[in-house]
Amino acid sequence: MSSFKELRIVDNFYQTSSYFPMPTILVGTIDDQGKTSLGAYSLCFPYYVAGKSYYAMILECRNSSNTAQNILKRGKASLNFLPNNKKYFKETVRLGYPGDSSEEKMAKTNLHLEDGLVTLDDQSIRPQIVSESYQVFECSWVSELENASECKAGELDGYEPPYKDFNGITSKFGAHFILRIDKIVMKEKYHQAIIDGVKATSFPKIPVDYGYRDNTNFWYTGSKKFMKEPIPSAKAMDINTVRFAADRTDPNIRFTDEACQRLVKVPRIFLKVALESCAKWARENQVTVIDAKEMDIINDKRNKEKKN
Ligand SMILES: Cc1cc2nc3c(=O)[nH]c(=O)nc-3n(C[C@H](O)[C@H](O)[C@H](O)COP(=O)(O)O)c2cc1C
Repeated sequence: MSSFKELRIVDNFYQTSSYFPMPTILVGTIDDQGKTSLGAYSLCFPYYVAGKSYYAMILECRNSSNTAQNILKRGKASLNFLPNNKKYFKETVRLGYPGDSSEEKMAKTNLHLEDGLVTLDDQSIRPQIVSESYQVFECSWVSELENASECKAGELDGYEPPYKDFNGITSKFGAHFILRIDKIVMKEKYHQAIIDGVKATSFPKIPVDYGYRDNTNFWYTGSKKFMKEPIPSAKAMDINTVRFAADRTDPNIRFTDEACQRLVKVPRIFLKVALESCAKWARENQVTVIDAKEMDIINDKRNKEKKN
């Protein structure tokens, strides 16, 4: 007999039938008066994380919300991450109450707004960012994906089909927005921690939405203690495995034993990519033999790129 019991999967299953850890984000958009409007959102996650010419988040929201309508009209959003603080969470829940206009909500807010960093080097109008945030992603809606620019604002009582699959109006009451990340900005203290290497004491304390909610409460937790779990140490490969792959990388480039030795700890599934990137560097620099010295140069270059 199973130790699990099944729950019915219903609308909003992440709130009704699950405990589901999520961020709490205040999404800033520009309203019809050109002012910044804030709405509370948890369904906001990384979408393109590598291998594209840009990075993106996905935001899932009610299509009649101020946020959705503003994105449909003006395409810009700031994703404001606030630290754990009872006062801020209370305000987040207030900004998450449906039905009020942006003007009504923003007139009462105790949060502060300031210009983001994108506005300094971009002519487009951007929502301001919340000063109390520990980090903000400044974003633009990728409305060209799935021809989502065909989706127009204005239907507040539900949209009729056809619907988009993943970008724009996706159902009668739903919308998804793929948001290109134009800038990630962070408060100095947390920025510095990432540069220096984060310790248990340097993490921001973040409210985590637990998904589950009933008719009266949103449930969340603040981060109190930070624990670490070491990543399994790399299992070294036999040098012959590296040699076998290295000899098949580029017929015009030879890897010495010392160079192969440098690669024994690369996880096996990444070995081909690692060898190919070394070979690419060699071709670009008219190098035909990759030895320890060349591996040092390649590693230095990679470390510099990572730092940038
Ligand atoms: C913590 C929290 C998280 C929420 N997450 C979402 C979400 O991911 N998607 C959504 O459509 N509504 C979400 N809501 C409800 C919206 O905040 C609500 O629809 C609100 O009216 C949106 O504000 P706006 O109309 O100014 O955009 C959330 C509310 C709270 C308090």
